[in-house]
Amino acid sequence: MRKVSLIILGFLLVLTTSVKSAQAELDMDLMQAIEDTNKSLSSNIAIKDQKASTSDAKELEQMFSKVETYFVEKGDAPDAVDLAKKSKELSLEIVKSVTAQDFDSATNAATTISRNCRTCHTFYKKS
Ligand code: HEC
Repeated sequence: MRKVSLIILGFLLVLTTSVKSAQAELDMDLMQAIEDTNKSLSSNIAIKDQKASTSDAKELEQMFSKVETYFVEKGDAPDAVDLAKKSKELSLEIVKSVTAQDFDSATNAATTISRNCRTCHTFYKKS
């Protein structure tokens, strides 16, 4: 089902490229990368690795930014836009906390991000 809709989406993207060249697509490689980076971030915060946590959190921030853009352009998904935006902000908070060696705050923010993943999937993930 997902493959079929992706193929259809692909055709639509090609057809509309000339009109909407900035059309985004929520690709599953991006979600997979978010999953991997989120896991890596949690363990790097747990072992208080400042450098690795910072780079993971910055990466997550950029990826959530893409997720936000996707849902803004898709339209009719205000909750998803909000969750992506909040996750993006939390990623930046982690960068700040980790820089200040405040790993407790970083852990709390990371927990909230993981909760946001589940919330968004509950409402917007089809399979
Ligand atoms: C704003 C919404 C939103 C947020 C936040 C979000 N996701 Fe997703 N995610 C989705 C949607 C939508 C899909 C799949 C849509 C579908 O099933 O067609 C998805 C799919 C996935 C998949 C399946 C990928 C695959 O190959 O099938 C994984 C893994 C995943 N997300 C991990 C995460 C993790 C981990 C986080 C948090 C760190 C997260 N997501 C946050 C919306 C979100």
